[in-house]
Amino acid sequence: MRTQVAIIGAGPAGLFLALLLREAGIDALVLERQTQDYVQGRVRAGVLEQVAVELMDRLGIGARMHREGLIHTGTNLAVDGEVFHINFAKLTGGQTIMVYGQSEVMKDLNDAIAARDVKVIYEATDVAPQALDTVDPFVTWCENGVAKRVDCDFVVGCDGYHGVARSCIPASILKTFERVYPFGWLGILADVPPCEEELIYANHERGFALASMRSPTRSRYYVQCALSEKIEEWPDDRIWDEICTRLGPEAAAKVTRGPSFEKSIAPLRSFVTEPMRWGHLFLAGDAAHIVPPTGAKGLNLAVSDVIFLSEALAEYYENGSQAALDNYSTRALARVWKAERFSWWFTGLTHRFPNTEPFDRKMQVAELEYIRSSRAAQATLAENYVGLPLRPN
Ligand code: APR
Ligand code: PHB
Repeated sequence: MRTQVAIIGAGPAGLFLALLLREAGIDALVLERQTQDYVQGRVRAGVLEQVAVELMDRLGIGARMHREGLIHTGTNLAVDGEVFHINFAKLTGGQTIMVYGQSEVMKDLNDAIAARDVKVIYEATDVAPQALDTVDPFVTWCENGVAKRVDCDFVVGCDGYHGVARSCIPASILKTFERVYPFGWLGILADVPPCEEELIYANHERGFALASMRSPTRSRYYVQCALSEKIEEWPDDRIWDEICTRLGPEAAAKVTRGPSFEKSIAPLRSFVTEPMRWGHLFLAGDAAHIVPPTGAKGLNLAVSDVIFLSEALAEYYENGSQAALDNYSTRALARVWKAERFSWWFTGLTHRFPNTEPFDRKMQVAELEYIRSSRAAQATLAENYVGLPLRPN
């Protein structure tokens, strides 16, 4: 078997890339370890930057998003129960964000993948990229117990944080930068109307809380918890009480409680690997970098990576130039690091850290009060939240 680009992983990075390559007339094969239902059903964040919305449109898969997604022109912050609003549109010359769950994005991607005959092999085990530092790389895997191989020009690791691709880069070349946060997010989904039209990020002395949503009838809430805590220790009533306390009385009065149908605890991590290319291997999305979810940058960074990479591959196949491929890692990392900074800053501003001294908490509150009262501070938050430009000046 032969293809031009072998993509490992059929998450958002892998599927967006496969569709972009199809658009450019480049042949690709996607290899995914899990089943399609498993990948599609994973509950992840639900905020799309303008860049992601535009990519959905450009690929011709944005119709349902425009019908069912919710355009938010701003967000709310809360400090010790007092909520205030930041208007992104006013501060950024009209930019907004789209609230549309990642599982919906995945459905739209998969529909297009099927309609456009892009090849995706699910339940591919033992996927192994090989000869990546030669001009004849190939990938082997196991399918229904049968050993398979595809020869290709390039391999792209879109296989997430736990993938195999990153580990193919020699340790002497790969640099990793990491911050592990000493807490997690307990998240729930419930079929109840959201408490507010736009999201609320709350800093409370008991810890962070986030009120988000998937639709006018489906809410997504998170509360910061200790990593040692177990789901069983968090019956719904306890979660709702904690959400209401941390959001404060004004928002709590608008919270509709109901049974949760999804409940999980996720750790928070900042992580970047450099470079994002080695020989004929490229990394994109969570395979190369993780952000803490505060600010919802994970999916959006995967989108900018694959836009950059597809442009570089198109240039290579059109005129044989390697220049853009050579520049991919530098270009992608420049945007990645800015989003890493924003997610790290927003996490630090809104969470309760163990061993926080009263001084640190005073600093958080002072900064939030500053944001509340300063157009300049709000503009900084807004331009990062809606997403920095793909082509900075
Ligand atoms: N072989 C084949 N597939 C693999 C392997 C492997 N060895 N290891 C991982 N995968 C698959 C996973 O099963 C998963 O479906 O790669 C995919 C990676 O998908 P994501 O983890 O979603 O990563 P990415 O596509 O980069 O998504 C970026 O979306 O899912 C969110 O949190 C994620 O916000 C981030 C963004
Ligand atoms: C979500 O809706 O899941 C969500 C929204 C915003 C975030 C993180 C998660 O910052």
